Amino acid sequence: MSQVTLSINGQTHTVDVPSDMPLLWALRDTLNLTGTKYGCGIGVCGTCTVLINGTPMRSCTMPAISMAGAEITTIEGLDPTGNHPVQKAWKEVDVPQCGYCNSGQILVASALLQQNPSPDDQDIDAAMAGVLCRCGTYSRIRKAVKRAAKYAAQEGGAS
Ligand code: FES
Ligand code: FES
Repeated sequence: MSQVTLSINGQTHTVDVPSDMPLLWALRDTLNLTGTKYGCGIGVCGTCTVLINGTPMRSCTMPAISMAGAEITTIEGLDPTGNHPVQKAWKEVDVPQCGYCNSGQILVASALLQQNPSPDDQDIDAAMAGVLCRCGTYSRIRKAVKRAAKYAAQEGGAS
């Protein structure tokens, strides 16, 4: 076991985890942050995406102990009230079918809007391609990202 202090959603947590435990399992099993989902476990599907210092990364392939000092954002911390522009748009457009991919999708979309406040279809498709949606909700995802961009602009930028 190794001890590591993780900064997650603005709070620090010191945990004892196996040295090879992926961040995904530290989040889910050790810290009960189960909004981050397990899909393939081999870095392919993107379902397990979290933000590391604002950049989307796959939590299933990175050891938790390597994340000391990083700012980790999970779906639980994107906006404690669930009213981030992307979350608002997601609900209004009714994006989820099964919903399993949505934590990763929403975090990737929020990072996209930080980088590009007014993405076109190509920008959206390129950014969102990293998270597979088995239900094929891509047209609604595109619509929701555009709506979120408008909300973010009204609020002065997606945070
Ligand atoms: S569960 Fe991590 S990429 Fe699929
Ligand atoms: S909504 Fe089912 S996998 Fe995307």
